[in-house]
Amino acid sequence: MAGSRDRDAAVGGDMDPEEFRREGHRVVDWLADYFAHPERFPVLAQVQPGDLVRALPSRAPEGPESFDAIFDDFTRLVVPGITHWNHPGFFAYFAISGSGPGVLAEMLAAGLNVQAMLWRTSPAATELEEVALGWLRDLMHLPPAFEGVIYDTASVAVLHALAAAREAVIADVRTKGLLGRSDVPRVRVYLSAHTHSSADKSVILLGLGKDALAHIPGDANHAMRVDLLREAIAADRRAGILPLAIIATIGTTSSTAIDPVHEIADLCEAEGIWLHVDAAYAGVMAMLPAWRHAFRGAERADTLVVNPHKWLFTPFDCSVLYCRRMDMLRQAFSLVAEYLKTTEAAPVRNLMDTGIQLGRRFRALKLWMVLRYFGASGIRQRLEAHVELARMFAGWVDSTQGWERLAPVPFSVVCFRHHPAGMDDEAVLESHNAAIMDAVNASGEAFLSHTKLDGRYVLRLAIGNIRTEERHVRRVWALLTEAAAALPSM
Ligand SMILES: Cc1ncc(COP(=O)(O)O)c(C=O)c1O
Repeated sequence: MAGSRDRDAAVGGDMDPEEFRREGHRVVDWLADYFAHPERFPVLAQVQPGDLVRALPSRAPEGPESFDAIFDDFTRLVVPGITHWNHPGFFAYFAISGSGPGVLAEMLAAGLNVQAMLWRTSPAATELEEVALGWLRDLMHLPPAFEGVIYDTASVAVLHALAAAREAVIADVRTKGLLGRSDVPRVRVYLSAHTHSSADKSVILLGLGKDALAHIPGDANHAMRVDLLREAIAADRRAGILPLAIIATIGTTSSTAIDPVHEIADLCEAEGIWLHVDAAYAGVMAMLPAWRHAFRGAERADTLVVNPHKWLFTPFDCSVLYCRRMDMLRQAFSLVAEYLKTTEAAPVRNLMDTGIQLGRRFRALKLWMVLRYFGASGIRQRLEAHVELARMFAGWVDSTQGWERLAPVPFSVVCFRHHPAGMDDEAVLESHNAAIMDAVNASGEAFLSHTKLDGRYVLRLAIGNIRTEERHVRRVWALLTEAAAALPSM
């Protein structure tokens, strides 16, 4: 026996459970302090390219190191290179937000190290995904015909949605592919000029080619023009080009514009075209009665994506695709090798059948815990508070001389810029506003990003962080106005 113990010790084994307990408490304590005061770090990392690479050894350690030393390097070297998405002054891109229950769920999922490729490789992971996505679907007032599946990101979700559409539209694509086929016409995917770039990437990756993309111009509010969409489809049909899908967005990336999904869904029905709705950011607002009008028609989509990791307080990453044509998704992605075949007493769902990945993380756990911990009412209350803060900020922009708003505020993002009297050249306005943004971002107190709308450089204030309060929005407004006042106005 002693011999076998010696052998086991020589082989290695994991961290001692008592050490894990001790260090685990230390890590949780560190995180609890961090969540209590994320403002003690600058929101935008104030490091230079290469700083961390230079600070770390170029070779992996040959011998073991103590967790103490590793954790010390984490706090001393790694944390300064973190841009703090948890900081209440994070207003850039979409201010995505994790939350305590979500982080604890991630810890449990990592501890269990679940790999949910098959029902039997963790029945609870498969079934919890079904339950949590059913809850979310009902909260968003989507029909039961929608079956959900979790991916990492909306970029991957749209790739799967378009692959399912390709499967539905192009005969035998799974078997015969696309190359060298005289029986396959050119195809088109219609999207707006403001659709997220991940849709373009998916079309490229699916072998349809960039020429298959038809970017339909937007109206004054940056929503897709359905009259132009209709014309484009008719012209394509006359030219023998086959419509493959239309992508409508509720909450575009730049300005959170809302495409007229209801009208687009009518068109899709009349023309027999696959409708994908991108509600990656704003989808959760379908939980609020006052916003339901923005989602009219979404219930008729073939596929719809919503990202709990954006505005549902679920730590990155977690993106949900709802699909009413799961048969097409399975036809595109199911391929069961001998070593993955199973027999169960009753039919089961194997998550590997609905995606490119075989191995899958247990992402449903964090969504389920977040939905339970805050409850639907707690989530609605937080979303409404964010919209209120955005409206308050928009009000300051509207009522302050020298500032202008460049898009409506349907959700929690404000597009605006400083526009001093007499400064009308777009290039000058761009460098003026970029300088304001850089000054604010250098403060470490707030982080903003920009976009362009109709060729004009625009600052974006995105509210979505669970810790953002009125005082943080007041502070960023003060920083913006101070930065603007410090710059030459001509
Ligand atoms: C409307 C919209 N769709 C899709 C995406 C892509 O999201 P992800 O980072 O989950 O791929 C984004 C990202 O911000 C987005 O704003």
